[in-house]
Amino acid sequence: MSVNSALSIACLMLNSSFAFLSLPQLVRYAQTAAAPAPEPKIKKFQIYRWDPDTPGDKPRMQTYEIDLNTCGPMVLDALIKIKNEMDPTLTFRRSCREACLNKIDTNTSKVMKIYPLPHMYVVKDLVPDMSNFYAQYKSIEPYLKKKDESKQGKEQYLQSIEDRQKLDGLYECILCACCSTSCPSYWWNGDNHLSLLINFTIINLPMIDSRDDFTEERLSKLQDPFSLYRCHTIMNCTKTCPKGLNPGKAIAEIKKMMATYKEKRSSAI
Ligand SMILES: *[C@@H]1O[C@H](CO)[C@@H](O)[C@H](O)[C@H]1NC(C)=O
Ligand SMILES: *[C@@H]1O[C@H](CO)[C@@H](O)[C@H](O)[C@H]1NC(C)=O
Ligand SMILES: *[C@@H]1O[C@H](CO)[C@@H](O)[C@H](O)[C@H]1NC(C)=O
Ligand code: SF4
Repeated sequence: MSVNSALSIACLMLNSSFAFLSLPQLVRYAQTAAAPAPEPKIKKFQIYRWDPDTPGDKPRMQTYEIDLNTCGPMVLDALIKIKNEMDPTLTFRRSCREACLNKIDTNTSKVMKIYPLPHMYVVKDLVPDMSNFYAQYKSIEPYLKKKDESKQGKEQYLQSIEDRQKLDGLYECILCACCSTSCPSYWWNGDNHLSLLINFTIINLPMIDSRDDFTEERLSKLQDPFSLYRCHTIMNCTKTCPKGLNPGKAIAEIKKMMATYKEKRSSAI
């Protein structure tokens, strides 16, 4: 047990069960508490702040100083610590934290800067407006669809090992939108490019899942297949994915499927 955690347990116990401690116990805790504290490791965090409810508020970066000895290892730990202990007005979204893979860089001479997703409308502080993203997502019907629904709910839909393997590196997607919003083509082409990315990346998972019966229909709905070539393989998407996935590769896969589909369609005519 580190000196620090001994210290915090002692504090916790003094707070919560003070009345039950005998004098010798108290002395012992006091001695533990007097042990030399570790060197503080003060790290600066600069966080984007903007509050729409304060008239005239302008976006700014606000600096918080955190002693890394008293903070968990992840960037999310720092945000939670700031909100819980320093500034309850700081606003951000989080879910289960299972997806939080970003460690705090423990080099205290580097300032950590935290911004909302780029090129999105900001609702407040670190919270972007995701409505457009979700509307686009809904439009691709992001669930498995069967031609014959009579077996639905009665048995499992089996899949070969190879087909199942095609989903590895895709199903882990947490729909964080980092890939789409980091793509310069998205900045230039706005909404249309967002829908393009959703249609052509990992996010369109059913297109690659062998259990889905609507691949051709899904491909035919891709209104403007040529706009796919707006993808200049800058690969920001792959660089920025917090889950280490490869949306750039998924785009290439779907490009191939699109080519095969068009060939099939033209030979059928
Ligand atoms: C910490 O960051 C500074 C500034 O970027 C750099 O000069 C220094 O070498 C880094 N220290 C370590 C231990 O990486
Ligand atoms: C994305 O690409 C542009 C241009 O290549 C680059 O300036 C920018 O830093 C990249 N952004 C991210 C989030 O990777
Ligand atoms: C993306 O797919 C949706 C639903 O299939 C479609 O309405 C939309 O036009 C597509 N966007 C592009 C850019 O192909
Ligand atoms: S592919 Fe990666 S960056 Fe894109 S939405 Fe999924 S998890 Fe986020």
